[in-house]
Amino acid sequence: MNVKNLQLRTFRNYKEQFVTFHPQMNIFLGDNAQGKTSLIEALYVLAFTKSYRCQNFRELIMFGEDFSKITAEISQKQRTINLAMILSKQGKKMQINDVEQQRLNEYIGQLTVIKFSPEDLELIKGQPAIRRRFLDIELSQASPNYFLALANFQKMLKQRNEYLKQIKIDAIYLEIIDESLALQAAIIYQQRKQFIDDLNVILQPIHGQLTDGREQIKIKYQHDLGDFNTEDDIQKMYQLLLKKNFERDRKLSSTTVGPHKDDLAFFIADKNVKQFGSQGQQRTTVLSLKLAEIEWLASKKGEYPILLLDDVLSELDDQRKIQLLNFINDKVQTFITTTEMNDLLTKVTSSYTVFTVNNGQLLEVGERTHDTKL
Ligand SMILES: Nc1ncnc2c1ncn2[C@@H]1O[C@H](COP(=O)(O)OP(=O)(O)OP(=O)(O)O)[C@@H](O)[C@H]1O
Ligand SMILES: [Mg+2]
Repeated sequence: MNVKNLQLRTFRNYKEQFVTFHPQMNIFLGDNAQGKTSLIEALYVLAFTKSYRCQNFRELIMFGEDFSKITAEISQKQRTINLAMILSKQGKKMQINDVEQQRLNEYIGQLTVIKFSPEDLELIKGQPAIRRRFLDIELSQASPNYFLALANFQKMLKQRNEYLKQIKIDAIYLEIIDESLALQAAIIYQQRKQFIDDLNVILQPIHGQLTDGREQIKIKYQHDLGDFNTEDDIQKMYQLLLKKNFERDRKLSSTTVGPHKDDLAFFIADKNVKQFGSQGQQRTTVLSLKLAEIEWLASKKGEYPILLLDDVLSELDDQRKIQLLNFINDKVQTFITTTEMNDLLTKVTSSYTVFTVNNGQLLEVGERTHDTKL
């Protein structure tokens, strides 16, 4: 998949911008605070309808303006489509080929994206919520039915927590709530488990390659259920678990078990990377995870996602930069920000376009094609 072109209207510090992209590598070069990340963010918002930098989408609208519009032409395997996001004080709208879309689960997944920025190092070190978000973002892009189950689960969880606050609890009513909550939870658990199983298979050789075969990595899916197989099993197990924890949940007015408490752990040679991994090992783990995500998504969707790399050149050492760029190797359309032209970027990449970013304006400074490869 690739983004042919992008149009921005009053988005962050871009007043009006139209840009045609290189099908492989696009380099955004500019000083600080000129609009490099905003560009990456625009593509991300177009894919997910929300940003990774802010909770309130209204912050994306240019100061003093009423709305923002992001439009792009996306070339997919079978067809070319136009996607648009319109953000205004009243709310947000998404369009496919100028037709407004009502269902988020049908919109998400049209433009598939893997983003890699310094914040992603938190995937290892940060709170469990960050890893759950990673699961949700990946799975939602690949599976509309996961996205739907997640939205339903969150809605029902809220209802259950509200109900737990009631003075009088009706056992039968609670059981009905638990049953429907467990139905959604089962879909989430099952798909998360399958995802981690699949990802391990892809991740292990990639990580092996990045460490010259020195390190063996494994991701473990940590959840409240024991071993499980079918969705039916999971639903029953989760319902039992809810029952078992009822008294505690009631005291806290909060459901204490379930997929909203899930976590992931990364192990190298059976040691948890979060606790025992060196800085370098943590970085390599995130890098191999990102590369594995790309392959996983490609295998699910039948085409490669686009790759957004914000500020990663400053975060990775030369060897990892080369590994990353070699991996991309023209198969993934890539958007990369940098404050200075990096020799490696131009040596490893065979063909690319450089754009300068200056005060909310993009300028194409040249396309290059050459044969040098490291
Ligand atoms: N809603 C908005 N309206 C107008 N300008 C905004 C808005 N939100 C942020 N900005 C400004 O946009 C500019 C560009 O920000 P951006 O994060 O894209 O910069 P950058 O080029 O990635 O910088 P750095 O190299 O420091 O990461 C900043 O000066 C920021 O203050
Ligand atoms: Mg930036």
